[in-house]
Amino acid sequence: MCGIVGITAEKPFSVKGELILALKKLEYRGYDSAGFATTEGVYDKEVGSIDVLESRINPKLKTTTGIAHTRWATHGGVTRVNAHPHFDSEKGLFIVHNGIIENYAQLKAQLEERGYKFITKTDTEVIVNYLHEKMKTMSPRQAILSFFKDAKGTYAVVFFRKGEKTLYAFKKDSPLCLGICDGEMILASDIYAFSHKTTRTVFFEDYELAEVTPNNYQFYNRSGKLDKKPVEIEWEREPVMKRRFKHFMLKEIYEQPVAAQRLIRSLRTTQSHRVKQISKMIKGAKRILFLACGTSYHASLIGAYLLSRLGYEAHAVIASEFENFSVIDNKTLVFAVSQSGETMDVISVLKDIKHYKPKIVAIVNYPYSTVHRMADNYIEIMAGQEICVAATKTFTNTLIAMYELARVLGNHISLDRIPAKIKEVISKNDLRVRKLAKKLSNNKDIFVLGHRISYPIAREVALKLKEISYIHAEGMMAGELKHGTIALVEPGVPVIGLIHETNRERMESALQEVEAHGADVYTIGNSSKQFELPKRLNEEEYSIAATIIGHLLSYYIARNNNLPIDKPRNLAKSVTVK
Ligand code: M6R
Repeated sequence: MCGIVGITAEKPFSVKGELILALKKLEYRGYDSAGFATTEGVYDKEVGSIDVLESRINPKLKTTTGIAHTRWATHGGVTRVNAHPHFDSEKGLFIVHNGIIENYAQLKAQLEERGYKFITKTDTEVIVNYLHEKMKTMSPRQAILSFFKDAKGTYAVVFFRKGEKTLYAFKKDSPLCLGICDGEMILASDIYAFSHKTTRTVFFEDYELAEVTPNNYQFYNRSGKLDKKPVEIEWEREPVMKRRFKHFMLKEIYEQPVAAQRLIRSLRTTQSHRVKQISKMIKGAKRILFLACGTSYHASLIGAYLLSRLGYEAHAVIASEFENFSVIDNKTLVFAVSQSGETMDVISVLKDIKHYKPKIVAIVNYPYSTVHRMADNYIEIMAGQEICVAATKTFTNTLIAMYELARVLGNHISLDRIPAKIKEVISKNDLRVRKLAKKLSNNKDIFVLGHRISYPIAREVALKLKEISYIHAEGMMAGELKHGTIALVEPGVPVIGLIHETNRERMESALQEVEAHGADVYTIGNSSKQFELPKRLNEEEYSIAATIIGHLLSYYIARNNNLPIDKPRNLAKSVTVK
């Protein structure tokens, strides 16, 4: 799971100002090492964030053709030599890759038999040597077509031959797109890499390749030439900056009133016809399955909760176990929930279930993403670009989208008050959260309990405590505690209870049990001693309020402990490998 970029232009451009700038926009895809190479054969790579690499690049360095890569290691440790670009032993072919070659060991053994030496522990070096060998007797295009036949796995690849201006690009499963500018072409893992330069984009489909020169491009698939026209992308023009905030995570929590308002408005105007169509699809379905991972799975649990309460058969299933825990047929409606729209676990299920012919609805933040393009219908959650690896505003907006669907289907929900309530929750609780964060910063374990709508929220808050604050946290159903987990509750262990009027009785009884075993109990609810919630929140508004307090709590604990909040260890924003 990495970010790749390739630029080829008529006129020389600055490596720092163009290539690295585009790469930085993909840093959310991985940030353990980075590198670049130019057609002159100049290259550098380094462990660490793109800043580390960038600080070493001569500002005067220019080229007409270059590639760059930001890595999230899968095969081979995080070392300089394993960082991309990779090259053949003569340094005539330079390549960047996102994905995993599953049969790389077998391909490597074959290449070794034919005399190829490997200097890295990566699967990508197999691709470069494979292409190098084939291109002794074939054109680059034929070599790629042969790779399509021989390789198993996922890949988006860009490469060039030293001294040439042509970039070659191909893909299977991992995302790849081409941005078209005047006298310049940009290949990248996603459209944000070139959002500052062009709105004209061509998306690659699986088993497609392209030959790209500064003023032209030609696509091919396994059957021959393709005539692919660019689509015009509508960008969110707002520059992505931290402004007065210390971290993107805090900024993204604070901008939720605006992001929520933007979505609510669009659900009533530009997206209202799709909401109506999707609600019809729900009514016509035999069963509804939500397919997602991580935070999007928690939002999906709420989707399943809302639809179940309206009388529909609805379940939320984690993508990596989908095939083992669900029944699917052509009367099934699948909601693929993924803010990035590029999560490989979700995409691979969508591919696997295609032959059952279910209807698919995407709920995504990134329009034109793979999940969006695989769906029959979609809702765009319009949260704006989220930079912090931890999902915050995208979670809230996904919930709002679910609430609107439930409203159209007959649930008495009003979205109108949500933006103002979010604002109130943040302003009344920021200081209070900081206070509790100080108290909890050195804890090793935290338990978060919920019931009804607050059960998914408990899981979401616990995920953020793990991901951002590095505290082991369990988010669970209050009623399930007594069936085992309560054995871990000892004097002084913090337990956070998420209490709303609709779950008060069950929550209070669970909290009394843990208190009896010496736990330190904190609550997020109307009678909370630690927090102040707006009065008379309905269940849906409460779910958002409790989430925001939980997200802020994990943020301030991480901040107290000087942790790398926006880029936590071992993670990447978009998990584009299985
Ligand atoms: O882009 P997606 O919504 O498909 O991502 C799913 C998860 O990888 C993601 O929510 C992850 O759990 C976040 N880092 C949570 O903050």
